[in-house]
Amino acid sequence: MALRKLVAGNWKMNGSLAGLTELDAIAGAASDAVDVAICPPATLISAAVSRQSSLPIGAQDCHWNASGAHTGCLSVAMLAEAGAKLVIVGHSERRTDNHETDAEVKAKASAAIAGGLVAIVCVGETEAQRDAGHAIGVVTAQLQGSVPEVGRGETLVIAYEPVWAIGTGRTPTVADVADMHAAIRQCLRQLLGNEGAKVRILYGGSVKPSNAAELLHIPDVDGALVGGASLKAADFVPIIDAAK
Ligand code: PGA
Repeated sequence: MALRKLVAGNWKMNGSLAGLTELDAIAGAASDAVDVAICPPATLISAAVSRQSSLPIGAQDCHWNASGAHTGCLSVAMLAEAGAKLVIVGHSERRTDNHETDAEVKAKASAAIAGGLVAIVCVGETEAQRDAGHAIGVVTAQLQGSVPEVGRGETLVIAYEPVWAIGTGRTPTVADVADMHAAIRQCLRQLLGNEGAKVRILYGGSVKPSNAAELLHIPDVDGALVGGASLKAADFVPIIDAAK
């Protein structure tokens, strides 16, 4: 089943109010053929929504609790009030920098979906895990621990991001991406039944204009999560176009 593709930009800790001008051309590239979203730093969500109300804007993390003594954290309701429509959870940089566990990622994704946001749950192996032949086992275990039972085709997205491919300019082979996405699809069917067939599986890690078409036409690659190449419309728009 061909799912409508989603090309999402993850600005990480980059961007500024002045840089929101990039959203104009990005919003212009969105079409009926592909969904497009941008996840800027949380401080820019509200201004991004004001600038381009037709472009879904997302956050890069959320807390699983609705409120309370969690200094520096943001709840799903706060992000939704700022205008966010989706939220990335379990990005490998947060799993590493903030020691996030699968159980925490699952709690965040569950809270996001309960609060009306689309949750993009990230998974991916390290280079050592791939070299040891454990890539599919590692990612399957992350999915089993991180995917919320309430996930549905409209509310849950998976992003497969090999840790060693993020920001490095390196990507897995087409065959390796195909094998991994097929394994993720099979796991989602086991976890979610028929809904598992409707959940979009994005590829992420060094997606750029020169490799987007090849990556986006691999079976079960339902879009891309793009870091560095999402910061400038000149790089991001050709990736959106490659998904059409
Ligand atoms: P990259 O990052 O495109 O800069 O490799 C992808 C990501 O971390 O989401």
